[in-house]
Amino acid sequence: MADKNKLQRKTGIILALDVTDEASALEITAAVADLVDAVKIGYPLVLGTGLSIVSKLSKYAPVIADFKVADIPNTDHLICEHVFKAGCAAVIVQGFTGPDSLSECVKTATAFDGKVFVVSEMSHPGGSYFFTDEISKEIAGLSRKYGAFGIVAPATRPERVKELRAVIGDDLKIISPGVGAQGGSAADTIKAGADWVIVGRSIYNAENPRDEAMKVKVEIEKLI
Ligand code: XMP
Repeated sequence: MADKNKLQRKTGIILALDVTDEASALEITAAVADLVDAVKIGYPLVLGTGLSIVSKLSKYAPVIADFKVADIPNTDHLICEHVFKAGCAAVIVQGFTGPDSLSECVKTATAFDGKVFVVSEMSHPGGSYFFTDEISKEIAGLSRKYGAFGIVAPATRPERVKELRAVIGDDLKIISPGVGAQGGSAADTIKAGADWVIVGRSIYNAENPRDEAMKVKVEIEKLI
């Protein structure tokens, strides 16, 4: 049986699970578990259910904690410790906090055999307001330098995924939110260089989440 806590690319899909109650979270995850490589959770679900949801979801797929950790190194350390003690496979952190904060997150994650993804540029329209092209590239470079596992780059701007891929080379992974509800295309994002697309509302709000996840899977498979 596959290691349910190890992030491995099979379908290229990460489910963003922003429902806020445990029953829906588990029902949707069970329905799509074999179609996704990981489940990304964040404040909506964790504030709604508590961190104990991690161990329940981990039975189906590796869990990525999207807490966009952005604090001084000591606080980052305390947050990451909770994330990995709860059983998460990876955490998403901000890179604008600088090298010391970033390297502390990586150090803490590594102690738990966990991974760190760094936000390089956000997917919503305002996401490029402060994260200019140059700053995003600098954050991507910093992520590589300090041993992050990957970066988060916007599926809503595939051209930026391509540019950021050029900065990090093949050493780091790219996970890309913005497919579906925000208008991004899974195929275009993978073609631009992403390893995984992150898909939330278009799957978890669908009448049949499994059908929606299957559509994305097939769209990605056609690229091979
Ligand atoms: P939807 O419903 O739009 O969900 O498919 C997208 C998910 O991804 C998160 N998100 C981001 N996370 N950097 C991140 O680290 C980003 O640029 C970004 N854009 C969206 C969002 O919170 C949701 O869970």
